[in-house]
Amino acid sequence: MNTIKLDTSAALPFLAADAVSSLKTSATAARQALEDATCPGNDFLGWLHLPSSITADFINEIQACADRLRQECDVVVVAGIGGSYLGARAIIEALSDSFAALRKEQNGPAVLFAGNNISEDYLYELTDLLRDRRFGVINISKSGTTTETALAFRLLKKQCEEQRGKDVARRVIVAITDARRGAARTTADKEGYTSFVIPDNVGGRFSVLTPVGLLPIAVAGFDIKALVSGAQAMEQATAVGVPFEENIAMQYAAVRNALYQTGKKIEIIANYQPKLHFIAEWWKQLYGESEGKGGKGIFPASVDLTTDLHSMGQWIQDGERTIFETVLSVEEPRHSLLFPSDEENLDGLNFLAGRRIDQVNKMAEHGTRLAHIDGGVPNVRITLPRLDENALGQLIYFFEVACGISGLMLGVNPFDQPGVEAYKRNMFALLGKPGYEEAGEALRKRL
Ligand code: PA5
Repeated sequence: MNTIKLDTSAALPFLAADAVSSLKTSATAARQALEDATCPGNDFLGWLHLPSSITADFINEIQACADRLRQECDVVVVAGIGGSYLGARAIIEALSDSFAALRKEQNGPAVLFAGNNISEDYLYELTDLLRDRRFGVINISKSGTTTETALAFRLLKKQCEEQRGKDVARRVIVAITDARRGAARTTADKEGYTSFVIPDNVGGRFSVLTPVGLLPIAVAGFDIKALVSGAQAMEQATAVGVPFEENIAMQYAAVRNALYQTGKKIEIIANYQPKLHFIAEWWKQLYGESEGKGGKGIFPASVDLTTDLHSMGQWIQDGERTIFETVLSVEEPRHSLLFPSDEENLDGLNFLAGRRIDQVNKMAEHGTRLAHIDGGVPNVRITLPRLDENALGQLIYFFEVACGISGLMLGVNPFDQPGVEAYKRNMFALLGKPGYEEAGEALRKRL
């Protein structure tokens, strides 16, 4: 099997000789604590053995629901935010044709996203686009009460029922939520929607391999069996008994903690494929929400290269030396395109004639990597053999388990997110939600 690879050799020269090996014990202990469920947040470890626990029957059940939506809808809107949104979008965008929305021969429904912002223009334009289209909705919310998602879902449910009738709406609206609690569960049960459960012990940002990610990905026409099988392979490759020297999750966790200890407070994930933009968004949520707490944590940032070399490139090369870079590199593109020769050669680019565009991209990648290293930026490189379901399944699980290990090494509970409540309290208070009157008055004085 073609596996993803981790190369930390260009980060090590920035560290003391024993910096990583001295973290071997703590990385191994953190991996063991996840296994033994003896760590903080041990009631949220359902993701750890999720890949190997997914049965063929379960995949078939999800696929059957996806097939129904694919048959009955031209557009499927996925309503969700944070962990209930980013994983599905990341995988779908990584696997999709860059211009899928404009391709007439598109096979299956377009998958759109809502419930991840509160923009009136976005929701107006979405509901306007959906007018007279055969659309369905996948409503994803673990708590079932998230404002952004609930707001979008109310609009979409009403429109779907009005346009397609209550009976069809009942077939093309699917809920993915808690087994018992929350408004999304109550609505799903009352309306008789097909529903899938987000396990209690899997937090949002670790939920991409539950129906939260699997159903939208299957609706988009991608092979969820291969995605899960990639994750299963990585579950084995990073298992508790796999020694540090061979365990890429422990190594990544150790290197980033070692860099953090030397003042590298920002990790920039860099990709050279625009399709990976949302993988970086998903990764930022995974690491940001897991590690940024108690006054600690690496700030996860991202750039799309070479695009951002013409904006953020200056800062990375030459700004404050508090960063390190993690490059996501794809070995083999899906298509082949040769650069043409030109008789006049006015642009002076004939020296590239006959070469693959990807060769130019790869040289840009290597050249940038070396320039950044020379500029004092430690470099970690993660290589994917290609952008397919199997490799992405590996990548997801790799980042999840490394995140658990890394957060524990940092001394935080990687599985809670107490900080995300603060804005919600203020928003409810300012909107006059019953029960928030006093807080609302105090906040209004500060506006
Ligand atoms: O990772 C998390 O827990 C969060 O990002 C949640 O996924 C996000 O806030 C959405 O929550 P919910 O699924 O309850 O609507």
